[in-house]
Amino acid sequence: MKKILVTGGAGHVGSHIIELLVKDPENQVISLDNYFNGSTENHIKGAEYRTGHTKDIEKLIPETPDIVFHLGEYARIAPSFDDVEKVFDMNILGTFAVVEFCRKRKVGKLVYAASSTKFAIEGDGRHQSPYAFTKATNVDLINNYGRWYNLPYAICYFYNAFGPREKGVGKYATLIAKFEQIYLNGEEFTVVKPGTQKRNFTYVGDLARGIILTAEKGNGDGYTLSNTKAHSVIEIAQSFGGPIKYIDGYYGRAESGEAPNKTREELGWETTVDVLDYIKEFVKAHPRKNKPIESVYESKTV
Ligand SMILES: NC(=O)c1ccc[n+]([C@@H]2O[C@H](COP(=O)([O-])OP(=O)(O)OC[C@H]3O[C@@H](n4cnc5c(N)ncnc54)[C@H](O)[C@@H]3O)[C@@H](O)[C@H]2O)c1
Repeated sequence: MKKILVTGGAGHVGSHIIELLVKDPENQVISLDNYFNGSTENHIKGAEYRTGHTKDIEKLIPETPDIVFHLGEYARIAPSFDDVEKVFDMNILGTFAVVEFCRKRKVGKLVYAASSTKFAIEGDGRHQSPYAFTKATNVDLINNYGRWYNLPYAICYFYNAFGPREKGVGKYATLIAKFEQIYLNGEEFTVVKPGTQKRNFTYVGDLARGIILTAEKGNGDGYTLSNTKAHSVIEIAQSFGGPIKYIDGYYGRAESGEAPNKTREELGWETTVDVLDYIKEFVKAHPRKNKPIESVYESKTV
């Protein structure tokens, strides 16, 4: 049996990783989640779920895993400004404990779900929000544990995940699921100005497959998991049929930047689903009673 720990296993991406891992009967899969943003609705049959903060990992995980997938962190950019104490507690204290756990237990490999935000603005992206800062700091920490202690690790960079089990309501909802809710409610699509900012929306199943492949074959930093095609937020809202309402942005919304790409070059990973096709399927499955009017595409500023 291979013992595999997934921190944040009750969250969006973590649940998809677990879904793939439990398919192999040789895997014993344990999730550690504090349910800050996770949900029991994301539980996958065949995995074991433990409740707790990663800073208590030593106590909560008496087993020595062969692999640790570390996703259990505060994971949203915009609200991180208000939640800075939580961000530092969950991401800095929590991740330090995870990294120490891996060092002391001689875990076979630590695989970290890093954020692409640090590549924005030629590397200044790491300073654009409390979230981006802690994610980039943890990449530095893990890289240094590799140098200082020969910790076996691999670092994956995620770009805007979308797909089943994505949260569409509440403070920690993410864009595609939020827009699905807006579409279903017949409301206006709120787009942060200018709306031309592009995002590499990446299908959650592709992310899960990519991080598992990286765990099997990757070493060190630089495993980007991103769709090569980027779409602007306006394009996304339009593909739902609009109408669009523009709102003022906030500090920290930079365009995503160039990242190293070992996942494609070394591992041959590719994405399989484009977000516009995904939205097209969603719209087809949920036809609106009233077709959107022409003026949808005329930007309205509030
Ligand atoms: N979703 C994306 O587009 C994206 C992009 C870049 C990086 N990432 C990273 O991928 C990971 C997963 O993201 P997601 O979108 O699935 O987020 P998510 O919020 O759905 O999942 C994170 C899970 O971790 C749990 N958690 C948070 N802090 C914890 C702690 N200290 N101890 C134990 N559990 C904790 C939450 O309850 C949640 O279930 C995160 O680390 C995030 O930073 C995600």
